[in-house]
Amino acid sequence: MSFLEVRDLHASIDEKEILTGLNLSLNKGEVHAIMGPNGSGKSTFANVLLGHPKYSLTSGNILVKGESILNLTTDERAKKGLFLAFQYPTEISGVGYSHFLRNAYNTLNKSLGQEQEREVFLTVREFHDYVKRNLEAVGLDPSFLSRYLNEGFSGGEKKRSEVMQMLVLRPNLAILDEPDSGLDIDAVKAVAEAINKLIETGAGLLVITHYARILRYLSKIDYIHVMAKGKIIKSGNRELSEELEVKGYNWLGLEEK
Ligand SMILES: Nc1ncnc2c1ncn2[C@@H]1O[C@H](COP(=O)(O)OP(=O)(O)OP(=O)(O)O)[C@@H](O)[C@H]1O
Ligand SMILES: [Mg+2]
Repeated sequence: MSFLEVRDLHASIDEKEILTGLNLSLNKGEVHAIMGPNGSGKSTFANVLLGHPKYSLTSGNILVKGESILNLTTDERAKKGLFLAFQYPTEISGVGYSHFLRNAYNTLNKSLGQEQEREVFLTVREFHDYVKRNLEAVGLDPSFLSRYLNEGFSGGEKKRSEVMQMLVLRPNLAILDEPDSGLDIDAVKAVAEAINKLIETGAGLLVITHYARILRYLSKIDYIHVMAKGKIIKSGNRELSEELEVKGYNWLGLEEK
């Protein structure tokens, strides 16, 4: 049975249909990348997976381990081990970063503790040391822990921070929406290495990106999918991303936008 099964998904916003019959199945621990032109619905798909209230699902289904999650709230989906790193993370003033992470981690320990081996940190200091190691892995200074969530973070710092949260929280399936956009050259490699650490834990990944570069650094890729006009129109292996980088999307029969 697949970990994630998406069947003929249709979703709209303000009466406009954005997802037009999307199918995808991802087995436990698999790494899939989604590429595709601007506006093809990639972020919409990521948001719909986590149950963003902005979108209405008109038909189709999303199953995690064989059970539909359509009636679950976003936090219930997170407790099943789904994690989304946003394309545009929002600044949340007043929410301390360290406090936020510790709460989220402890909450997930309750729901995922039985199926995963998760560390239990008894003191705040132990937890901080754990987070600091992960901050280091993405090249962020420990002082970020005493800031408010994303407030005043640069574009690249927000991206590093999202991936850092993923490492700390240890989801079963991480959905990363353009984790490489706006990153400097060294950061792309650091972020890819952080993603590789999650892959080592046996987690599945869905990475949305426009560039083959980050994918080259990933320790494994099972499928590359091309999304256009709200559905997946082609799937292939690692080479497909290189081919797209050279040829663009037009050869797939998509007219220029
Ligand atoms: N409130 C809205 N009203 C109308 N159309 C919308 C609304 N929100 C999003 N859309 C449209 O939905 C389409 C899909 O957007 P989405 O953000 O999913 O694309 P994307 O594939 O992630 O693109 P990119 O590569 O640029 O990030 C776009 O054409 C966008 O303009
Ligand atoms: Mg997007």
